[in-house]
Amino acid sequence: MNDASLPSTRGCILVVDAQRNMRATTANLLRAEGYTVLEAVSGENALATLAKSGVDLMLTRLQMRPMDGLTLLKCALEVAPHLQVIVMTASGSIESAVETMRLGAYDYVTLPFKAGEMLHRVERATERARLQATVDLLAGELSERHGLSALVGRSPAMRELTSLLVRVARSDATVLVQGESGTGKELVARAVHAHSPRKNKPFVLANCAAVSEAQLELELFGHARGALTGAGRARRGLFKEADGGTLFLDEVTETTPAFQSKLLRTLQDGEVRRVGESAPLRVDVRIITATHRDIAREVREKRFRQDLYYCLNVVPLRVPPLRERMEDVPALAEHFLRRANARSPRPKRLSDAAVKYLMAYSFPGNVRELENLVRRAAALAGSEELLPEDFLLPLKPSRRGSSRRSSRPRSRTRASV
Ligand SMILES: Nc1ncnc2c1ncn2[C@@H]1O[C@H](COP(=O)(O)OP(=O)(O)OP(=O)(O)O)[C@@H](O)[C@H]1O
Ligand SMILES: [Mg+2]
Repeated sequence: MNDASLPSTRGCILVVDAQRNMRATTANLLRAEGYTVLEAVSGENALATLAKSGVDLMLTRLQMRPMDGLTLLKCALEVAPHLQVIVMTASGSIESAVETMRLGAYDYVTLPFKAGEMLHRVERATERARLQATVDLLAGELSERHGLSALVGRSPAMRELTSLLVRVARSDATVLVQGESGTGKELVARAVHAHSPRKNKPFVLANCAAVSEAQLELELFGHARGALTGAGRARRGLFKEADGGTLFLDEVTETTPAFQSKLLRTLQDGEVRRVGESAPLRVDVRIITATHRDIAREVREKRFRQDLYYCLNVVPLRVPPLRERMEDVPALAEHFLRRANARSPRPKRLSDAAVKYLMAYSFPGNVRELENLVRRAAALAGSEELLPEDFLLPLKPSRRGSSRRSSRPRSRTRASV
């Protein structure tokens, strides 16, 4: 996967400053430190960005027109109550900076700022945003059926992913989930929905690789009554069914250019045109897409429209392959065994030797492969304790990172890392 498409785990910062040079200097300083940085030229502009992106920290000028920094602060905290805000002010106006802290700003810096001091304050503020996200989680969201509790694994890589996921879920931002086959992209998409304000509305899934282009169009956009031969009844279409909720377009890179154009138009207009109907229908859906391919390369090689890519890739979430988080293997194996035991009259348990044996494998098919291995071992094992020989690994276990030699679970699957 292209490094440029990796999500920033340091946090997302919005820099608001009407002065182009100052804005660029601040933004570049933060980018160089690994933050994702968005820029806004005015308060109005900033509010529009906050409404659709998972921003952790806003860094704003106090003196701006027409909307001043104080008004922006008040409005921003209404749009994004968990946002951290640092105000930047000329040294003559420290009093008003202190006033902003009473209104909910986290900190202030005086201009011209020193890089070291700015970075220190930004780091403290983004750390606080991260803690806040964790507190929210512990406040009860963990029990969500399709939420984070469905995602087993507490490796640093998974913790980073879930922390970003929770922050992103609160916004309406379009999310692109990338990861090899079987890594858990669908679970991640469901978790984003389960932690979003849309959680009580539908989560609708459309697999773009499973049907022909014509069928996909009919399924997504719907059609009028009698619009097609044999189509007596009208069909609402999945866009409309997801109204108010989330539409998950799985394997979005497996679509044709014609379909991609139609999808782009729909997303830009927020309107669906049913086949055989001229009047468009307004829809309010949050879009999540997923792909197992290196989508940046699909764009470079002209198989995927660049403009659609930009539209879908507002927040990238990368689900790491299992071989990059082997410490999750024991917990995942136990999880899948518990599931198998729940359906079995003779519960099994994992031997230490079996866990060790699994830990030495590279899992080219990722979590899905581990799930299948455990399920099969539980069904076929002769004794109550599962031993290494009960796991029929396709190849001699190989050390991490050597998965290229291993067989792929599906013929269309390609390495995406
Ligand atoms: N972190 C996890 N915790 C528990 N189960 C998981 C986890 N990740 C994946 N799974 C399970 O592994 C299987 C594959 O996950 P999922 O379908 O979400 O992967 P995917 O990336 O969409 O795969 P594909 O590219 O093959 O569609 C599912 O049965 C899912 O429940
Ligand atoms: Mg999937």
